[in-house]
Amino acid sequence: MIVFPGYEESIQRVYENKQDQVFAHWQQLDDTQRKKLLTDLTAVNFEQCAAQFSEASSNTAVEVQGFGPADFIRRPGRGGDAAAFKQARDTGLAHLRAGKLCAFVVAGGQGSRLGYDGPKGAFQISPVRNKSLFQIHTEKLLKYSRKYGVELPFFIMTSQANHEATVEHFKQHAWFGMNPDNIRFFPQNMIPSLDTAGKLVLDGPDSLFRNPDGHGGSLTALQSSGALAEMKKRGIETISYFQVDNPTVAIIDPEFIGFHLQGAAEVSTKVLTKAFAEEKVGNLVRFDDGRTGVVEYSDLSPELACSTNSDGSLRFQAGSIGIHLFQRDFVERLGGSSQFALPFHVARKKIKAWTPEGTSEIDAFKFEKFVFDALPLASATVSLEVLREDEFAPVKNRDGLDSIENSRQLMMDQHRRWLNERGIEIPPTVRTIEISPLLAVEAADLPAELRIPAEANIYLD
Ligand code: UTP
Repeated sequence: MIVFPGYEESIQRVYENKQDQVFAHWQQLDDTQRKKLLTDLTAVNFEQCAAQFSEASSNTAVEVQGFGPADFIRRPGRGGDAAAFKQARDTGLAHLRAGKLCAFVVAGGQGSRLGYDGPKGAFQISPVRNKSLFQIHTEKLLKYSRKYGVELPFFIMTSQANHEATVEHFKQHAWFGMNPDNIRFFPQNMIPSLDTAGKLVLDGPDSLFRNPDGHGGSLTALQSSGALAEMKKRGIETISYFQVDNPTVAIIDPEFIGFHLQGAAEVSTKVLTKAFAEEKVGNLVRFDDGRTGVVEYSDLSPELACSTNSDGSLRFQAGSIGIHLFQRDFVERLGGSSQFALPFHVARKKIKAWTPEGTSEIDAFKFEKFVFDALPLASATVSLEVLREDEFAPVKNRDGLDSIENSRQLMMDQHRRWLNERGIEIPPTVRTIEISPLLAVEAADLPAELRIPAEANIYLD
């Protein structure tokens, strides 16, 4: 029986690394299944698994040290300089109109907290029309494209687990009106999860249990998929990075782009003022050597998290919300070199493991890279304050914090604010309201003569 050339070496490596529990049911597998399992095993980096397990099980959490709060650009009205914002906008617009921008969404996550059976981007969230997250983002890009008179290519990172379903979602909806030549999908890498004894786990008779390698994996996936090369060919210099589960994100923001360019930044990041000291967002910090970074909420001691300035404000008040700008050549440098490899973070989670005796829930270690670990590797960074109500409505959970209902409400609140800002009257009958991104991506896009009928559910397009 020949499974595939070189398969014997693969089997040998599994034995040498004492992971042969994955062969316990080998005799029951047919040739196709054996080939499938061995293909998964051939891709495993056993040295990396051993190192990750040793770190995960050592119980000595590496304490991040030597940092203080980082500076960020404050908005006008909150200490910021309105003239500087105007200048940044002009700089950003020139870059944008020259076709040097693209949008990049990371949509490879498992969305396990949401418990939705499909790609998270296909989750229907908009309050009146039930548009999916992907539809909202794509329509925004169409609008920006028309508004600024420029093509804005859309790069979408999936995972091997949701790639086909994601492409299918776009196909079924005729690419939401976008030219498919301007949309590029590519899957990120998957890496094995390990049980608490450091052993590989199966999720079926012929497949290893693997998880996507975190949003930080996007920087290598951009390189290995050829997406970066395509960006270069298209003349793209700056990548606007965002996360699929935030429907209110301003994907293309001329002011942000302008500050990024004026600061000669390789990476920039949007931050908001934390709602409370121990809010579960990453904390923007400045390391003692001058580099900027993000320290996860779980790595910031309660004492530091709660420490205050003399005026009573939090010392660590800037929270990162997963919105960044990357210079393409910075990602090229990072993605093409192991010297700049981002570290793995470990999470202990319950997973459904398959054994010949059946499937059961076990404790396991999952390993992920975080995209903000790229910040300290940049020669210069810029951090810009945004208002929570303008740009942050993440949908993470079914109920409670960052819930579906919360996110919908935040979208409606934003649309009501835009209408108020334009002096457009909202009749008291209105209960739910939704503005199509094709009509407006900010208040200024709304025609002042707009009239809203006295009905309960309003959709404006
Ligand atoms: P989260 O860390 O919130 O993870 O991802 P998640 O997968 O959406 O949800 P849970 O934790 O399983 O409940 C933030 C963003 O990063 C993307 C997600 O798709 C989301 O846009 N992401 C996360 C990836 O693209 N790949 C990953 O491996 C992890």
